[in-house]
Amino acid sequence: MIVVKSVTSCLQLRKNLSKGTTGFVPTMGALHKGHESLISKSVEECDNTVVSIYVNPTQFNNSNDLQNYPDTLESDMQILEQLGTDYLFLPCYDEIYSDHYRYRIEENEFSRQLCGSHRTGHFTGVLTIVMKLLNIVKPDFAYFGEKDFQQYLLIKEMTEAFFMDVSIVPCATIREQDGLALSSRNQNLDQCNRKKASLIHALLTSNRSDCQVSEQLAIAGFEVDYITSSNGRRFAAVNLGEEGKQVRLIDNVVLP
Ligand code: PAJ
Repeated sequence: MIVVKSVTSCLQLRKNLSKGTTGFVPTMGALHKGHESLISKSVEECDNTVVSIYVNPTQFNNSNDLQNYPDTLESDMQILEQLGTDYLFLPCYDEIYSDHYRYRIEENEFSRQLCGSHRTGHFTGVLTIVMKLLNIVKPDFAYFGEKDFQQYLLIKEMTEAFFMDVSIVPCATIREQDGLALSSRNQNLDQCNRKKASLIHALLTSNRSDCQVSEQLAIAGFEVDYITSSNGRRFAAVNLGEEGKQVRLIDNVVLP
């Protein structure tokens, strides 16, 4: 695996990859089986696979969340090698945001709902970094997880709105045995909250109403941001743990 740190070398490298298809998996690291499924799909379907690891500060609206974000670069690199990744792109803030975030990609409707209504500016940060990364890597296919369904849909619609020459590929949510969706943030849960967290999927897939699910989660000690059904899916965002160490978890399931 070739590791590329500067935007200039990544652009140069992309020029040399003119043969075959290029798949791209953007991540913030702390890789788990959820990320691995996206990377394996790209390795299987494309001639070249590029993975990026970059903890994008503009999408965090909570400094604790950013500070507590796990950093496991060494083991991430081992995983990437094992999966057959060809290139790892590790950009840095000064190059990626040489404009000091003066230029942004903003969506004015869906990005303000669900997670957007609880995390001001989050999706502007996500869309801006993804636009920058897609412009640098110029992939034919880019892989995104349905675990972050709102993110996936906003990115897909952004590429359509800007006539970008890339296919956005949705990938199914990978779960622990007890149903908890894999997330880099799960490792910040203590043992007791980790056990509790399985309730999210159990209740989302139950035949209780959104209101009842929300009530049950609140009784169990979750701080609920939302439980909402729309377009054939039920979406959840909850917080677990004490002030300052709170872990935010999101999930969604297809309604029967
Ligand atoms: P990150 O949370 O690292 O996730 C990277 C990709 O992995 C996203 O497409 C996400 O939906 C997917 N993913 C995470 N957990 C998953 C699971 N359990 N099953 C399937 N896919 C899963 O999402 C981001 O990073 C960032 O917002 C990013 C797009 C990189 C922009 O900074």
